[in-house]
Amino acid sequence: MPIPDEKIEEVRAAADIVDVAGDYVQLKRSGSRFMGLCPFHNEDTPSFSIDPEKNLYYCFGCQNGGDVFKFVQEIEGVGFLEGVRILAERYGIPLPEEEVDQEAANERESILHALRFAARFFYHQLTQTDRGQPALDYLRDRGYTPATIKQFGLGYAPDEWDALLNAAEDEQLDPETLEKAGLVVERNDGSGYYDRYRGRIIFPIFSHIGKVLAFAGRILDPDGDRDQPKYINSPETKVYHKKEVLYGLNQAKRAIRQTDEVMLVEGYTDVISLSQAGVENVVASSGTALTEGQVETLHRYAKRVLLLYDADEAGSRATMRGMDRVLEQGMGAYAVELPEGNDPDDYVQTHGGDAFDDYVETHRQDLPSFAYQRARRQGELETPEDRVEVQRSIIESVARIPDPNLRREYVTRTSEVVNVPDADLFRMLEEERERLEQQAQRRQKREAKRQERQAQEQQESRAPAPAEASVPDGGADRPQPPPPDASEAPSQQSSEPAPPAEPLPEERVLLRLMLEQGTRMVEYVLGHMALDEFTEGPPRELVQKLVEMYQNNDVRPDSFLDGEHGERLQQLAASVMMEEHEASENWAEREDIPVPKLNDRPYVAAESAMKLLKLDRVEAAIAEIRDRAYEASQDGNEEQVQRLQQKMMSLQELRKQIQRGAFLDD
Ligand code: UTP
Ligand code: MN
Repeated sequence: MPIPDEKIEEVRAAADIVDVAGDYVQLKRSGSRFMGLCPFHNEDTPSFSIDPEKNLYYCFGCQNGGDVFKFVQEIEGVGFLEGVRILAERYGIPLPEEEVDQEAANERESILHALRFAARFFYHQLTQTDRGQPALDYLRDRGYTPATIKQFGLGYAPDEWDALLNAAEDEQLDPETLEKAGLVVERNDGSGYYDRYRGRIIFPIFSHIGKVLAFAGRILDPDGDRDQPKYINSPETKVYHKKEVLYGLNQAKRAIRQTDEVMLVEGYTDVISLSQAGVENVVASSGTALTEGQVETLHRYAKRVLLLYDADEAGSRATMRGMDRVLEQGMGAYAVELPEGNDPDDYVQTHGGDAFDDYVETHRQDLPSFAYQRARRQGELETPEDRVEVQRSIIESVARIPDPNLRREYVTRTSEVVNVPDADLFRMLEEERERLEQQAQRRQKREAKRQERQAQEQQESRAPAPAEASVPDGGADRPQPPPPDASEAPSQQSSEPAPPAEPLPEERVLLRLMLEQGTRMVEYVLGHMALDEFTEGPPRELVQKLVEMYQNNDVRPDSFLDGEHGERLQQLAASVMMEEHEASENWAEREDIPVPKLNDRPYVAAESAMKLLKLDRVEAAIAEIRDRAYEASQDGNEEQVQRLQQKMMSLQELRKQIQRGAFLDD
């Protein structure tokens, strides 16, 4: 049903563009206008301006502009009607009920609709039904008030295969849309769908304006069933992009803007407990390492990020990376370590919000001091070499700060912390800056080369094939023939070699990690993988070379790019290093395996990639055995069938072990 014009005008009158845009942009008054950093393009000086009188916005940089509806459409990537709905919701103006017309509504809107429906369903299950009672008791036991449960929209997914499916059917929501929303999963045999979340406490994940984008489901008793992951997370969908979303932002943004500071914690429950205790400027990055996009988002609201990760080694490493990310983008970075064994949730539940605030105030550390303490704790300050290394690594972080004045301040600060004259550290800083500069140049060169190559390839494939391949004249710059062992009689016109076996996506990730990270990563991956688990052809050859290099104590990833090991390995190395996309997002969907950005947590990424590769191999073996067993049964060869079934069972056992990650515990 269309929204009547007078309703639209009512919404327009109610919606204050300064208020709406202020959720995304830090605005400063400037005469009769407001100015800020444009949310639609990257810039360092504000060219985004708002005229509150006219209720208009305009960016002098990218020329994006319009009224408040246009702003919402652009920033949320929605159509006009959905933009009006968002604003109507925000300003509490009731609109005529939406009609669920899958034909007409665009896909995104129907997905959002399904998510909204599911959130209501889960909330109802938790708060109004008998089967939700144990979950509700659990949340109450953890200290969550009904108001908090409502505020965060917590819910319960019944322990059934089709509770949500059935409820959705009653509302004429089709399973295909639920599937696109990440709510249900298609059965392996294609015969239908089942609920993704079963018997779990539900945490809706909201956009910063409060749209339900996804869910996380927590098991009630993590110790009850050790084979089940504690959290089941939504896959990436058309509306949910993990790397951009911050859990809790929609509740927290007001407080963040007031304090200019945002606290970053690890868990959903940390956000909720802190918020309930009155510490409201808190968000979490949903079980992934902090990404660049997330930092950008935070920058719109805050000047400083305070990281509050677990006090273990993984947590402090993540903190270091996170601080780098934050400093790199010109924000202040601080970290707080809680007492051993406490997460923010534990701490605040035990000591309360005020004590938490006090603790944070007295324990906040800047990067030099956090890094130095960490190094001391790990015994990395024992020898002169170690100490220089630690100094250098701190300066490495400082070198990424964009503002030269701030860099200077940080060098001075580092000098205090590590007790080294600052002149020496400034020299180090220069070296680091130079290194970063060279790195950037190399990257640019490589990128330019790649583009050149691509353009050339395109041209070649478009150019008409030479009528006769062996014209005697001027053959000098003709494309090289395909390498001899790939020349399975390629069709005469084609200049392409017969396609060698393609490495799988997770395999590409492993190759890239080994090439990027060098010796330690090679050791880690090859310590857990056999050579023949890599695809035959160039991928396996490359790994073979790495093994040799490793054995000679001489791992030189650059030698692949130099072409020292031939063109095929050079191409393969270049292509995996240039990969546009991070590790396939399907991974997470396939096995609920976390896939951090490769540079954030290379070892976790490697672990996930190895797991997937092993699973792919064992699944292929299972499929093959199944085929052979079928053939044998057709032949009536009972004995063979039995043997194969035995084999299949042991492969299935192996599959389970891989899934559990057993190959890692050695
Ligand atoms: P935690 O194990 O610390 O969980 O994981 P939590 O959120 O504090 O939950 P409680 O307090 O034990 O109930 C921290 C975060 O890591 C992600 C989730 O985002 C979680 O909030 N995580 C954890 C997963 O995605 N999957 C998991 O299996 C575990
Ligand atoms: Mn916790």
